[in-house]
Formats: sequence, structure tokens, C-alpha cells
Amino acid sequence: MQSVVLTVSLVLMAVVAFLFWRAVAASSRKPSEGSGAGLRTPLIWGLAIIGVFVALGTLREWPHAVASEGLVVKVTGGQWYWEIDTQELPLGQPVTFHVTSQDVNHGMGVYNADKRLIFQAQGMPGYVNKISYTFDEPGTYQVLCMEFCGLAHHNMMHEFTVVAGE
Ligand code: CUA
Repeated sequence: MQSVVLTVSLVLMAVVAFLFWRAVAASSRKPSEGSGAGLRTPLIWGLAIIGVFVALGTLREWPHAVASEGLVVKVTGGQWYWEIDTQELPLGQPVTFHVTSQDVNHGMGVYNADKRLIFQAQGMPGYVNKISYTFDEPGTYQVLCMEFCGLAHHNMMHEFTVVAGE
């Protein structure tokens, strides 16, 4: 996926550079008949309409968009602990974590049983960050702090389990 994004970005950058170069070159010429200037307005409108559809089509898949909060789980970070109000989370249903902090910034990183980071959200004092996730594998998940927050930062570990509902 990342290589596709990189390729698309490089192609679009080349297109923009080409158009920019053409515009700079054209600006030194006198306008003349048949230069294609009449196409400019429909071209701009066409591109704007395509751009709106591309933006709508791609932003809908925004990974942190909260479509439905589902189960709300409150998470509070503090020096040096995590307080999580639910220890058993449902499998296959959206869960929205409301993450905050009692003192300094903490990074709530959620790791699966293979110790792979699956998502993270910042715990900030006086602010609630929301992140939604639907767990598709049952098991034990670990919450580790991802932001250096003082002497016992490395002790900020917590666990919760994901279980299939009835
Ligand atoms: Cu909390 Cu590091």
C-alpha cells in the first residue's frame, strides 16, 4: 500500500511540475488564437469536480474516523499507570477509547499478542482523544506507554482481553 501511495505521489508531483513549467513558459508568450486558452475554464472545472469526488471517496476511509462509537472505554494515563474502566472488550464490535491524562502527556499504544502495535492515541491532560477500533482477534492485548513521561515510564503497562460475545 505504501509503495502505491509513493508511486501515485511521485507521478502527481511530476504532473504538477510539468504543468508549472508549462505555465511559466506560457507566461512569457503573447496570447494567440488557437493556444487552447478557451479550454482553460472547462478544464479547471473538470479538475475541480474530479478533485471533489476523489476527496470524498478517499477521506471516507480515514482510519480514525469515528462512524459509530460502539462501546466507550475510558482510559486515563498517570505517572505511572493506566486506568482502563473495562477489562473485557467485545470481539468484532466497534470500541471507542476516550483517552486522557491526569498529569503529563502519555502515549497509549495497544499491542496484540504478537507484540505488534495495532493503534495508538495520545493521552493529554485536560483533553480527551477518541480512537475507534474493532478487534478481529480474541486474546490478551497490552497497553504500553509510548511517550517518555518520567522515571517509571517503562512501568506503564496494562492488559485487557478481547472475547467473543454470545
Ligand atoms: Cu506514560 Cu510514558
